[in-house]
Amino acid sequence: MCGIVGYLGPRPAVPILVQGLERLEYRGYDSAGIAVLEGGGLLVEKRAGKLAALKSHLNGNMAGAQVGIGHTRWATHGRPSDVNAHPHLDCTGRIAVVHNGIIENYQELRQELAAKGHRFISETDTEVLAHLVEEFYAGDLLQAVFKMLPVLRGSYALAVMSADHPRELVGARQDSPLIVGLAAGETYLASDIPALLPYTRDNYILENGEVAWITPGEVTVYDANGSRKSKEVFHVAWDLQAAEKGGYAHFMLKEIHEQPRALRDTLAGRLKDDGRVRLEGVNFTPEEAAALEKVAIIACGTAHYAGMVGKYLLEKLLRLPVEDDVASEFRYREPILNEHTLGLVISQSGETADTLASLREAKKAGAQVLAITNVVGSSVAREADHVIYTWAGPEIAVASTKAYLTQVASLYLLALHLGEKRSHAPWAQEIAGGLKDLPDQVEEVLKLEPRIKELAGRIAPHEHAFFIGRGLDYPVSLEGSLKLKEISYLHAEAYAAGELKHGTLALIEEGTPVIALATQAQLLEKMLSNIKEVKARGAWVLALTQEGNTAVTEEADAVLYLPPVPSILAPAVTVVPLQLLAYYTAVARGCDVDKPRNLAKSVTVE
Ligand code: G6P
Repeated sequence: MCGIVGYLGPRPAVPILVQGLERLEYRGYDSAGIAVLEGGGLLVEKRAGKLAALKSHLNGNMAGAQVGIGHTRWATHGRPSDVNAHPHLDCTGRIAVVHNGIIENYQELRQELAAKGHRFISETDTEVLAHLVEEFYAGDLLQAVFKMLPVLRGSYALAVMSADHPRELVGARQDSPLIVGLAAGETYLASDIPALLPYTRDNYILENGEVAWITPGEVTVYDANGSRKSKEVFHVAWDLQAAEKGGYAHFMLKEIHEQPRALRDTLAGRLKDDGRVRLEGVNFTPEEAAALEKVAIIACGTAHYAGMVGKYLLEKLLRLPVEDDVASEFRYREPILNEHTLGLVISQSGETADTLASLREAKKAGAQVLAITNVVGSSVAREADHVIYTWAGPEIAVASTKAYLTQVASLYLLALHLGEKRSHAPWAQEIAGGLKDLPDQVEEVLKLEPRIKELAGRIAPHEHAFFIGRGLDYPVSLEGSLKLKEISYLHAEAYAAGELKHGTLALIEEGTPVIALATQAQLLEKMLSNIKEVKARGAWVLALTQEGNTAVTEEADAVLYLPPVPSILAPAVTVVPLQLLAYYTAVARGCDVDKPRNLAKSVTVE
């Protein structure tokens, strides 16, 4: 996830681009850059680090420019650095491109372009776009973009400018947001509405496949076939605060809704049709993969619960022993590790102190370490031997949602990768096929939102709630109960459903909410008995299960039906209603959802 802006009009472009980027910094902040047209040529300035680094470098320069594009980056391909920052240029330095998204086939395109003599200087996927426009350019910038788009696979919102077309910008979108702002005599481009609110409230919101040809104060929108489209102007009535959250009441809700996109990006380009995966940054030889005797999963908080899902599924699929620990315990329990152990470290921020220290412990003991993290260039990413990046984009709400889901998706990818390397993965096709369906299934589940809001109203007045599940439902129950505790301050406890009668059952009273996860086909009957146990003690049971599991639905007081997802993939779907349930319970209890008391997003102390 990155932010892009563009301006074309009579005013100085640089302050407008910089202010736009400031408002988009929540979309990424590891580097920033702008390109403007001045004196007949393109001037580009870009800097690694937060936007402030670029701003102090610009220092009032390029004041005469009236057209430009800008970008604030959240690294995916290539670490955060000056050279990998956008905009990217073609060989002539006369075409500049900024891009948000992932070009899945960039490696093939890069090879083809290099063979034709194009010189690449960055590690990014975006740079191919500048060279492709150059390749297709024959005097008409818009036509060059039209010729390029069909060769791209993946997602993009992009803005293109050329020194040879000083009064033009071209924008295009596919699966990444892009809007065009309209004002008298000037035109804007941006990833979202808040970036443009100081300048205009009238926008075209581009749809997938649309291309915008921009001249000062005028915009022509085309569909993917090059036919002109008439579009309605969207007038924004929100205030700035609401606009920054994309119209959602809280960042957490926005991030919950971003999950289909986050999943698509995390799976993009990595999953092949034949069940094989390509994981850049993971480099086990078949011999190394075969020599693994144990996996030690290490993480904190929500990332640890993603890790517990990983334990269940890696053991099940790879038949490899897996331990899981919270990092603060792992460090001090003298774990038994050697060169046949894979240390699997999971961290959204990549900076959690205990997780980082555990990573170092594992390396010291001779283990290879693989990190799953959301931040390119983070400490964990730099120190691990292998890295899988979750491409969730920046997560702002303290309670983790989209990072968790993409961590879980990455664990499936890792299972596929290790299965392939260890030459035993009869399940690969089924898992790979199921993973492809996940983003759509999560979209389906999000439609349950109004019903979940109602159910949250039923839970909110209570002081205790319980979550139960078996097998892969158990770690998801733990995550569901953590979400509820963190943001609603309602005491919630998750129990392996079979263990209930050894303790927690004593706490069930008339009306106590019990959220029962029943998605594991082979454990349904057992789960049903556990539901009956709590019902007999007066519990109010909300069940989550796939449609058709009638015995469960008959027993429960309320049911949320999930799409027909296979048991093994259920954790990637079931968590979403639990996030919404926690969210609406917290709202009903009047809590500060995005900034829960006593908690921090990134914990860099032990
Ligand atoms: C904090 C956050 C949690 C997060 C945990 C681990 O406690 O509040 O949401 O799960 O740290 O953070 P990490 O960045 O390592 O995933």
